[in-house]
Amino acid sequence: MKHILIITYTLCFFCFACKKDKTAPVVPTLVNLCDSINPVSFANDIEIILNANSCYACHSSISPIFSDYSSVFAVKDDILKSIQHDPSYRPMPENAAKLPDSLINKVQCWIESGAPNN
Ligand code: HEC
Repeated sequence: MKHILIITYTLCFFCFACKKDKTAPVVPTLVNLCDSINPVSFANDIEIILNANSCYACHSSISPIFSDYSSVFAVKDDILKSIQHDPSYRPMPENAAKLPDSLINKVQCWIESGAPNN
């Protein structure tokens, strides 16, 4: 009888041990996307994106007006939300397909790195 109890306890211990292992929280490996993207250059990345997608062309006369570093810097968060198609913003570029994620990520990472004039 004593042996049966010991075996039962042992089995229970392993059952719970296994169960605990399965439910143990798995700590995800957080890869910061921007670490692999930065540094992003304003002149060689951001301005090229804004030119190639007619942002500068329309927004030289349509509000918000932006045409150079300081004017882009002033509305950078609105620019990001609009190209991300955030539901509370007007989706940009106007009447054109959403930009590829690789370009949206560049804008986001440029802003996250402090939006330098580089
Ligand atoms: C064909 C013209 C056109 C192009 C191209 C265009 N926009 Fe716009 N954009 C507009 C118009 C029109 C509005 C709305 C202006 C208003 O409401 O007074 C606007 C609004 C915006 C706003 C304000 C959105 C809001 O909801 O507050 C931002 C930011 C913006 N555009 C950024 C961009 C960016 C970045 C690009 C390029 C990826 C771009 N736009 C391309 C015409 C354009």
